[in-house]
Amino acid sequence: MTDLVPTIKNKLHGKVAIVTGGASGIGEVTARNFIDHGARAVVIADVQDQKGQSVAASIGPDRCTYIHCDVTDEDQVKSLVESTVSMYGRLDIMFSNAGIATLSSQLAIDLDISAFDKLFAVNARGMAASVKHAARAMKEGGVKGSIICTASVFASRGYATGGTDYTMSKHAVLGLVRAASLQLAGYGIRVNCVSPGMVGTPLICEKLGAPKEVVLKMVEKFSKLEGTLTEKHVADAVSFLASDESEFVTGLDLIVDGGFVVP
Ligand SMILES: NC(=O)c1ccc[n+]([C@@H]2O[C@H](COP(=O)([O-])OP(=O)(O)OC[C@H]3O[C@@H](n4cnc5c(N)ncnc54)[C@H](O)[C@@H]3O)[C@@H](O)[C@H]2O)c1
Repeated sequence: MTDLVPTIKNKLHGKVAIVTGGASGIGEVTARNFIDHGARAVVIADVQDQKGQSVAASIGPDRCTYIHCDVTDEDQVKSLVESTVSMYGRLDIMFSNAGIATLSSQLAIDLDISAFDKLFAVNARGMAASVKHAARAMKEGGVKGSIICTASVFASRGYATGGTDYTMSKHAVLGLVRAASLQLAGYGIRVNCVSPGMVGTPLICEKLGAPKEVVLKMVEKFSKLEGTLTEKHVADAVSFLASDESEFVTGLDLIVDGGFVVP
């Protein structure tokens, strides 16, 4: 009997990717997952230089590079994309994932409006800059690339007990994905987003002011499926959207939440 070749392992064979917010959480695990699925190279972009450098070193200097990039600064995003193309010859995948949350509860009746600028600079403007410069590089290189943004389950619904500003910023991500997917389809560039439920990353632990073990117990309660939503579940969905397995999928909001918000 002929052995079946596990092609799922090679689904990103030869592809070059950027992961913003790749020093931690969902971004870090996705960068590792890209390599595990055969990507030729991953560039990790973040503002946490020490963490980013250490993740890149652990993946291996032949396959992974760290570049400091604050996504709120368009010049830095442009230069990130240009450096990637000049190092590796092309850009196939942009995982625009860097994001922050405000620490206060942000009920609509009680909003700290002054927190908006920083939040929107990262979660909305930073996403837009990453999509823009990735799309330009893909178009110029004639690459039928895949752009994936990290939205959230709160990109398409409200949250009763707070997070109004975060919910607004993630709705903006969905708007970006919907507009860009239509505008870039003619170049063969796909644009999708992944919308995680609650994952016990530093972003959430910091927001809740609780240690990871406590947060993981909470995370479990948000899933209808048995078990805990992890960074790897999200990374696998991103790898699917990055791969040719999803070659006719664009404009999608792929919710990964264990059934937390079935519409
Ligand atoms: N953890 C969750 O429950 C959850 C749920 C839904 C969506 N998300 C989204 O997932 C994405 C990743 O978050 P995470 O949970 O892995 O958190 P995380 O804090 O572990 O990772 C976020 C990364 O983004 C980086 N970052 C922040 N500001 C930046 C900037 N200006 N420029 C470049 N990098 C910057 C951080 O340094 C960090 O490494 C975010 O967009 C977040 O909103 C997270």
